[in-house]
Amino acid sequence: MKRIGMGIVGAGFVGPHHVEAVRRLGYVDVVGVAGSTEASAKAKAEALGAKRAYSSYQALLDDPDIQVVHNATPNYLHYPINAAAIAKGKHVVSDKPLAMTAAEAKSLRDQAVKAGIVHAVTFNYRGNPLVQQARHAIARGDIGTPHFLVGYYLQDWLLKDTDYSWRLEPDKGGASSALGDIGSHWCDLAQHISGLRITHVLGDITTVVPKRKRPKGSREAFAAAGKDEAVEIVDIAVEDLASVLLKFDNGAKGSFSVGQVCAGHKNDLVLEICGAKSAIRWRQEHQNELWIGHRDRANEILQKDPSLLDAEVRGYAHLPGGHQEAWADAFCNLMRDIYGFIAAGKKATDPHPPPFATFEDGYRANCIVEAILGSAQRGGVWTNVEY
Ligand SMILES: NC(=O)c1ccc[n+]([C@@H]2O[C@H](COP(=O)([O-])OP(=O)(O)OC[C@H]3O[C@@H](n4cnc5c(N)ncnc54)[C@H](O)[C@@H]3O)[C@@H](O)[C@H]2O)c1
Repeated sequence: MKRIGMGIVGAGFVGPHHVEAVRRLGYVDVVGVAGSTEASAKAKAEALGAKRAYSSYQALLDDPDIQVVHNATPNYLHYPINAAAIAKGKHVVSDKPLAMTAAEAKSLRDQAVKAGIVHAVTFNYRGNPLVQQARHAIARGDIGTPHFLVGYYLQDWLLKDTDYSWRLEPDKGGASSALGDIGSHWCDLAQHISGLRITHVLGDITTVVPKRKRPKGSREAFAAAGKDEAVEIVDIAVEDLASVLLKFDNGAKGSFSVGQVCAGHKNDLVLEICGAKSAIRWRQEHQNELWIGHRDRANEILQKDPSLLDAEVRGYAHLPGGHQEAWADAFCNLMRDIYGFIAAGKKATDPHPPPFATFEDGYRANCIVEAILGSAQRGGVWTNVEY
């Protein structure tokens, strides 16, 4: 198989998972790393076993051995790096949210389509085998027409005022924190599994921790404060908690909450879809189980087991039943679909595998978050999601 060269820009928390996932494919070379400085790029390249370290992302983009650029930098760098990679004719795997605003995301989508490159956004929960099973079952009509989609995505890593991240700074993370960071995942997943589109939103947003102790030095994502770390008190303008009512394009209703201040919830994404016949629920923290609810017979728990999955989605499970698969495996499934598409020489306009979200999907997620913020700012009024 022809080998494909990839380069990664940004190797903080999630970047190394991109590297690990593509390595598992067997035909992808991790050519090099660009970091915030040349020194950090060197350290990260060494730690990740990548051949080259670049002084800047521009230098990485100039490397002819790199065909696919992964962008795992903070949100404010998604637009300039993705746009520069597209201009060089590279395929782009961007982390989410695709951009800081819907306008930026739309522009990236248009640039990518015009350039004819393959473009993907890491809405990685799509890569879970039981997510694919739920999607397939709903498309087949197993639960009947969906009428209610409900859930939440809760975390606790910003509960204390000593917790801090660039995600809380609008110039680095965007106008939203919890909604952009994890609400975008929930909305993408709800639409992906159900096959429906969110058309209207009514949002309520809160900043539970309005002042935080910002470290004067740098700190990796999700890291706790050091004991003697120098800090300054800053005002927080973005939400760390939100609740949203939803309307979908088939008339279904729904709601979800997101929060980064909910003790005990580590990465707790829950989505339930209730249909005319049955309901189906997937929970990220118990991702090897799919709950199926019935009215006239006992509810079921479907264990992740390739032999129990539909043939069409069985390939997303790689271990027998009882051998748990998890977040990194789903991330790898996503990369398998993206790189399989690239390796087959497919055009960006060709139908692509379902777990792989494109810049179009990334743009839609940005539009939803913006509509929720707009709704909340107007005091919580129903707002049309404009694409
Ligand atoms: N798909 C997921 O589930 C998932 C999970 C976590 C993060 N993310 C997304 O990934 C992105 C990165 O998040 P993170 O948690 O890894 O953040 P992080 O702060 O841990 O890592 C970001 C990295 O980018 C580097 N960087 C900063 N400026 C740079 C520049 N000019 N050139 C190159 N590198 C630069 C930083 O030094 C750091 O190593 C965010 O957009 C976030 O939303 C997605």
